[in-house]
Amino acid sequence: MNILIITGGSSGIGKAIAQKYTSENYTVISISRSKALTVNYQQIIADLSSISNTIEAIHSAFDNLNLETISSITFVNNAGSLGEVNTLGNLDSKKIQDIIQLNTTTPLVLANEFIRFTKNLTCKKQIINISSGAAVNPYQGWSIYCASKAAIEMMTKTIATEQNELSNGVKCIAIKPGVVDTNMQIQIRNTPQSDFKDVKRFVELKENNELYSPEFVANRIYQIDAQNQLENGAIIDIRKF
Ligand SMILES: NC(=O)c1ccc[n+]([C@@H]2O[C@H](COP(=O)([O-])OP(=O)(O)OC[C@H]3O[C@@H](n4cnc5c(N)ncnc54)[C@H](OP(=O)(O)O)[C@@H]3O)[C@@H](O)[C@H]2O)c1
Repeated sequence: MNILIITGGSSGIGKAIAQKYTSENYTVISISRSKALTVNYQQIIADLSSISNTIEAIHSAFDNLNLETISSITFVNNAGSLGEVNTLGNLDSKKIQDIIQLNTTTPLVLANEFIRFTKNLTCKKQIINISSGAAVNPYQGWSIYCASKAAIEMMTKTIATEQNELSNGVKCIAIKPGVVDTNMQIQIRNTPQSDFKDVKRFVELKENNELYSPEFVANRIYQIDAQNQLENGAIIDIRKF
C-alpha cells in the first residue's frame, strides 16, 4: 500500500496533488479546515494554526493506517497562507503569530510527528515541503510569508542532514511550484497596490495566461516523488526543473 498524507488537500495545489495520488491508487489522507466536495480521499478537519488540533489530526491520520502493510509513505506540507499583506509597521501582531504558526511551526511539528511515527519503517519515506520563490526573493508587503518559506527551506536541509545519518532515514525535499492559478493568487491580485507594490506583475501574469494549473504542478510533484531521483535536502523550482 502506498500512502500520501497532505495538508491543505481541500483546494488549489493540495487538492490537485491529493487527486493525482488517488488516481495512482495511493491511499490519501488530507488535513484542512474544510472538505473538498466530490473527491474520494479521506479528509480530516483541523485548523492547522492550532498546535493541539495539528497534533490531534496527524495522530488520527496514523491511527487509520496499518503501518505493516505500507510500501511507501509521502507526507506533503502544503497548507499555507499569505496572511495579511502590508509592510511591517502596519501589521497586526496576533496575525503575524498565526501565520508563522501555520506556515512554519505546523510543518515542523508535522515533520517531527511523521518522522517519529515512521521511524521503524524501512520502506520509502518522503517529506515534500511546498516552498515558494518568496523563500529567496524579498517582496515588499510579504515579510511574514517570505520569512516562513525561507524557514521551510532551512528545515528541509536540516532534516536531510539528520536523516542521512540513518540507514532507513526519511528523504526531505522542498519544491517551489511557480505561480499557480489558485485562491492564493486571487488574494494577491486583489491586494491594493498601496499594500503590495508588485501587484501589477501578478495581474499581468494572469492576463497573459502565464500561471500554472494546479493539475500541472500536481503531476510534476507526483513524477518527482515516484522517480525518487533527487538528493536528500534538494530544493527545486518547478519552473527550472
Ligand atoms: N499559488 C501559488 O502561486 C503558490 C506559489 C508558491 C507557493 N505556493 C504554496 O502552495 C501551497 C498551497 O497554496 P495554494 O496556492 O494551493 O492556496 P489555496 O488554494 O489557498 O490552498 C491553501 C490550502 O491550505 C489550507 N489551509 C489554509 N489555512 C489553513 C488552516 N489554518 N488549517 C488547515 N488548512 C489550512 C486550505 O484549506 P482550508 O481553507 O480548507 O483550511 C487550502 O486547502 C501554500 O503553501 C503556498 O504557500 C502557492
